[in-house]
Amino acid sequence: MYDWLNALPKAELHLHLEGSLEPELLFALAERNKIALPWNDVEALRSAYAFNNLQEFLDLYYQGADVLRTEQDFYDLTWAYLQRCKAQNVIHTEPFYDPQTHTDRGIPFEVALNGIATALKDGREQLGVESGLILSFLRHLSEDEAQKTLDQALPYRDAFFAVGLDSSEMGHPPSKFQRVFDRARGEGFLTVAHAGEEGPPEYIWEALDLLKISRIDHGVRASEDPRLMQRIIDEQIPLTVCPLSNTKLCVFDHMGQHNILDMLEQGVKVTVNSDDPAYFGGYVTENFMALHEHLGMTQEQAQRLAQNSLDARLFKA
Ligand code: ADE
Ligand code: ZN
Repeated sequence: MYDWLNALPKAELHLHLEGSLEPELLFALAERNKIALPWNDVEALRSAYAFNNLQEFLDLYYQGADVLRTEQDFYDLTWAYLQRCKAQNVIHTEPFYDPQTHTDRGIPFEVALNGIATALKDGREQLGVESGLILSFLRHLSEDEAQKTLDQALPYRDAFFAVGLDSSEMGHPPSKFQRVFDRARGEGFLTVAHAGEEGPPEYIWEALDLLKISRIDHGVRASEDPRLMQRIIDEQIPLTVCPLSNTKLCVFDHMGQHNILDMLEQGVKVTVNSDDPAYFGGYVTENFMALHEHLGMTQEQAQRLAQNSLDARLFKA
């Protein structure tokens, strides 16, 4: 089954580049940049990857991102991810990156973006992996800071096609970012947002009605609200679901309780994605495989999930 799933042509629509930083590369970059780490070795770091919720993960994720300093670092990070795409027949990817994670550490805006954009271009030309970048705002920071980030990004508008919203969901509803999303749409960008990962269905309504998103990132808590479910089925609004992430962050206690296949059978346009694969135990194929092992996903369901991912692409080359 693994090889069959691996060979399925698919798109990845929910992937944080900073979350694809494998411990081996993290250590290599720390050495290259002469940064002291609080872990003795790769195994010690990996054993720290045990989380009770989103915030515990985010604290480690932002700490890990501190080894990314130069354009070459961001290139190497992105290139390593694109090679995984190639190996898993991910023919199209729409990754996120969080500029504020880097600018807040004093890394100039263009350093991260140039490294990422150059690797994505090489990925298209040398690996045949199509891609479009999503610039994601950190929702635990203010709207004003998001506006400043958009100001910094506009001179590089050709490097990305959409804006997103990520980081700590609870207490930071989509409504907090309505004006910056209005402005981004006015500048011609599509919008997506994390909603209904830990947050309630109301946050999904807000993301749809106020941020006018084209796709919901996670969205698994939509199943708690029948009226919302009807809307996302009627309008075929895609959900970028991340099964391994949801179990690692205790959104579901066990993969056997995940609702992705129930949603699929109800007609929701759900897709399978890896979110932060270096931290959650695998890339897209491993996520498909977990659904097969714990939920009995059939080949026919896998084909529909993979087709959904291709249908839900927003970036047109
Ligand atoms: N940033 C990286 N991964 C994330 C997730 N799963 N939810 C919110 N923000 C994130
Ligand atoms: Zn995410």
